[in-house]
Amino acid sequence: MAVWSKRFSKELDDIAREYNSSIKVDHLMYREDITGSIAHTEMLGEKNIISEDDAEKIVNGLRSILSDIESGELEIDMNAEDIHFFVEKELTKRIGDAGKRMHTARSRNDQVVTDLRLYIRNKLDELLEDIRALSKSLIALSKENLDSIMPGYTHLQAAQPVTFAHHLMAYVQMLIRDKGRLEDARKRLNECPLGSCALATTVYDIDRFMTAKKLGFDRPTRNSMDAVSDRDFVLEVEFAISMTMIHLSRLSEEMIIWSSQEFGFIELDDSFTTGSSIMPQKKNPDMAELTRGKTGTVIGILSGMLVTMKGLPLAYNKDMQEDKKGIFECIDILSKSLKVMKGMIDTLSVKKETMLHKANHGYLVATDLADYLAERGIPFRDAYNIIGAIIKEASEKKSDLTDLPMDFYKKYSDKFDEDLYQYIKLENSLNRRKVYGGPAPETVLKQIEDTEKALE
Ligand code: ARG
Repeated sequence: MAVWSKRFSKELDDIAREYNSSIKVDHLMYREDITGSIAHTEMLGEKNIISEDDAEKIVNGLRSILSDIESGELEIDMNAEDIHFFVEKELTKRIGDAGKRMHTARSRNDQVVTDLRLYIRNKLDELLEDIRALSKSLIALSKENLDSIMPGYTHLQAAQPVTFAHHLMAYVQMLIRDKGRLEDARKRLNECPLGSCALATTVYDIDRFMTAKKLGFDRPTRNSMDAVSDRDFVLEVEFAISMTMIHLSRLSEEMIIWSSQEFGFIELDDSFTTGSSIMPQKKNPDMAELTRGKTGTVIGILSGMLVTMKGLPLAYNKDMQEDKKGIFECIDILSKSLKVMKGMIDTLSVKKETMLHKANHGYLVATDLADYLAERGIPFRDAYNIIGAIIKEASEKKSDLTDLPMDFYKKYSDKFDEDLYQYIKLENSLNRRKVYGGPAPETVLKQIEDTEKALE
């Protein structure tokens, strides 16, 4: 029988009951629901809105429900409407009339949003730890590859020499910003809606500051109508998660390319790849592909929820019950993706020789050659044009720049000299790029030091 059965003359239709029920999703918040109810009840007792005796009974009852759910002794009833009704009903079953006093000065509208904020807050702390762990793995791999020269690309065309360390560290910078976005979202969502009740607070002399403090919130929300109808904290976290997933997806795409036969820059470990049912030679980067694919799922959830919210008048509308499924899935996907990515990074092997070989054969030092002439007095644009012509002839000859004799160069400019062969060596090209943020090994080391500080 529904809580409101006295007001209604009919029971809810079966299909409507199923449609309306959210317990299959919101049962995940049982801990937060019970924690929130304990804080609310303690406050009701301390403010003498209910007797100390009833408050104690309720709190003990809630604690026993929590431990019975955790031990598996109490199974959450999937036919209940939602986790809030389930807990209240179970409480009343256990302690009788006192249980019916728990919902004084509260509504499911402020309750559900309090639960959700608590749930997301806990999960954010875990996600932030996972981001830190992955960043540390990327930094460790970077430290091993400060001198691993590889081609840097623009338009996926070989551009200039960089190192594997510099390339990986780019992702650490992205992850640090992602971490900042999640931390920001955590700060903003850490306000307590309890006491807003349905939309217009209550006539009881409750202390919202007390409940907020008990639950570790920074303060109570400032407007009761906003508190029960705001879901921007959900959207903000979904965006921050989508952004992080996009970064993981781009890194995944690189790993897919790097591990292809055509590139052969890395080999993914057997423990993070799969074989084919028909082609014995295959070693597929499924984990990276799934990360790329799940990014689509997460972005879809964000878009869906943006659309769900855009036309809702104040205050609570049942549409908002749809918020939980998506945010829970986003959190789950990011949590697993970060761990899978860390696993791939920790176990992959780097094919330094192949990277170096590719870097040596793509005219990656063409810009250096132009700089060489510019340093010797030729205006950069003229130097650029001279090198353009040199590259054209060299590629027709299928010759690398290091293999062409001095008289070839002299045809183009008398500024060329024997020292040019040293100048265009890849390691010299890299070592000259000492500008802060650049790929020279000693500069990347500085980047790593600064990044490690930023991660703390
Ligand atoms: N299960 C509901 C939700 O997730 C709880 C709030 C219900 N409030 C209401 N006025 N029906 O949104």
